[in-house]
Amino acid sequence: MEKKESHPNNTMDKSTENIDEKMKKSALHKFFISALKDIYYAEHALIDSLEKMQKFATTEELKDAFEDHQLQTKKHISRLDKIFGLLDEKTEKKECEAIKGLIKEAEEMIKSTQDGSMTRDAALIIAAQKIEHYEIATYGGLVQLAITMEHHKVAELLEKTLVEEEETDDDLTDIAETLINFEAEAEEN
Ligand SMILES: [Fe+2]
Ligand SMILES: [Fe+2]
Repeated sequence: MEKKESHPNNTMDKSTENIDEKMKKSALHKFFISALKDIYYAEHALIDSLEKMQKFATTEELKDAFEDHQLQTKKHISRLDKIFGLLDEKTEKKECEAIKGLIKEAEEMIKSTQDGSMTRDAALIIAAQKIEHYEIATYGGLVQLAITMEHHKVAELLEKTLVEEEETDDDLTDIAETLINFEAEAEEN
């Protein structure tokens, strides 16, 4: 029986990045994978947290923003799934203490502000922006590492997420500036 050659030209294989055994053993590559597992955990943890923030926000505008962010977070997770595949790595989460702390802080904001108040929304926006900045810092660093290690397809995917994180941060600033902070200031205790 004649054997069919599946990839006559290896450089055309689009299924994985160009990773050899030596690369896999390098400390930088290992660190990169571990950082990907860390943000993979963080994105999953955010799905539940954003649902809670949406539920407890006062204005429809902020509720909608959290809903959009949750949908976006699901997209970030599927991009990470793709990235693990491209790097020929197991899809795994690594517990991330930083995001746990930021989520806890958001929950404390809910406890320490009144239901239905604009102060609640002002506080939730700050909590959400702290989370966003953590994501921006992480993806920004990961993009640079991917470029350094010439994982170009991975870098492209990470960059897409980075841009979306920055847009979300800007949207939250807009909501705070145009509406919520003024009304929170006018609010009686
Ligand atoms: Fe994200
Ligand atoms: Fe985000």
